[in-house]
Amino acid sequence: MARKVTKAIFPVAGLGTRFLPATKSVPKEIMTLVDRPLVQYAIDEARAAGITEFIFVTSRGKSALEDYFDHNQILEQTLKEKGKDDLLETLNATNMESGAIAYIRQHKALGLGHAVWCARRLIGDEPFAVMLPDDVIAGEKPCLQQMIEAYEETGGNMVATMEVPPEKTSSYGVLDVGDNIGTSVRARGMVEKPKPEEAPSNLAVIGRYILRPSVLYNLNQNKLGSGGEIQLTDAIAEDIRNGVPVFGYKFDGQRFDCGSKAGFLQATVAFALARDDLREDLQKYLHDVVATGQAAQ
Ligand code: G1P
Repeated sequence: MARKVTKAIFPVAGLGTRFLPATKSVPKEIMTLVDRPLVQYAIDEARAAGITEFIFVTSRGKSALEDYFDHNQILEQTLKEKGKDDLLETLNATNMESGAIAYIRQHKALGLGHAVWCARRLIGDEPFAVMLPDDVIAGEKPCLQQMIEAYEETGGNMVATMEVPPEKTSSYGVLDVGDNIGTSVRARGMVEKPKPEEAPSNLAVIGRYILRPSVLYNLNQNKLGSGGEIQLTDAIAEDIRNGVPVFGYKFDGQRFDCGSKAGFLQATVAFALARDDLREDLQKYLHDVVATGQAAQ
């Protein structure tokens, strides 16, 4: 049986330039979907999947992210005194156990593969998850949990995958697919951001991975790939060449690309509509906007 996955790496060193000027002082991962920071969705998903050690690969300017995971004693005390139990509960749900989180700095922006490699000493010789908080996945069963259950059957490496329009392949890692094993597809190869005419399929890698430590050894070579960066996709592809199975897992759920403004807005609306306290007013507002075509001036 495959070894239990208890560690997850969250690469959060990116500058978030697509969200300037907001990201001039606020890390993108702290930006809110309704009232929860983007990163909280990834943390909750990881916890639901049994992850107990959370490794953040950060960079300069991300201290707000570190503060977010600290207990806020003054706030907790104030809420307690005022009897605001529901808010206190919301706050407590974000508190992390002491020692459960580690922060590693990526000193240079050398790519996703490099960011993951920066955490190698904290991973050691065990399988681990990688979660890209930009990819927010809504689903009845959290995506990483679905993957861990599948991984316990298959072993190897596993990446989340979904079909994308063929003209979009150059935004993703793309799988060269072989046999279909239920919701898991065995990959024959993987390419980072191929042009549509060169893409081996339209099955894109989405930001959830379960990887073996061999991927970290592959990253030791520091080989530059697409965009002149060290790519995680290339290190996983090398495992395939070395005979280690890699599966694409077709998850059940809706993925929002919160690395883009359009995706962030869509996620905001979708998560707000899922909330009992917001649904009715928002539905009416959206209906009126669509009916009148009237936007903010
Ligand atoms: C990264 C990965 C890519 C993957 C994508 C999923 O790209 O390099 O393989 O398909 O995340 O969101 P990025 O979006 O950081 O450019």
